[in-house]
Amino acid sequence: MLYTFHKTTATLASLAENKPTETTTGAKKVCLLKRGDKIFAFAALCPHSGAPMCDGWVDPLGRVVCPLHKYRFDPANGRNTSGEGYKMTTFPVEIKNDEIYVGLLSLPTAENERLNTDGNTPHKDDDDDIDRW
Ligand code: FES
Repeated sequence: MLYTFHKTTATLASLAENKPTETTTGAKKVCLLKRGDKIFAFAALCPHSGAPMCDGWVDPLGRVVCPLHKYRFDPANGRNTSGEGYKMTTFPVEIKNDEIYVGLLSLPTAENERLNTDGNTPHKDDDDDIDRW
């Protein structure tokens, strides 16, 4: 996939550890999560029913928990680790001089446009396993 990186309104210094934080990049809202020296970016809206993921929290295993129905997602790859079969869109991140850049799909296909607009994928996992990590 080809991404174009866009500067966000957040900086490294503005992010609290393990707290999902909403930011914008261009006209798009995304959630950022700082964990140690890693920054994750993922869709602002839950793929289940569109709850604001930045109002959620991080559980003791490092999974992002949706505030509405408590489905859990791996912020690194968007996998629905509580087993309901959804997939949260994630975005690549680059850090330059304390500024955070998020990669959005850059090819003008209908699928990329949908992903960049609503930030979610209707993907259903094939297995029903609950990941433990
Ligand atoms: S809206 Fe997020 S789990 Fe239902």
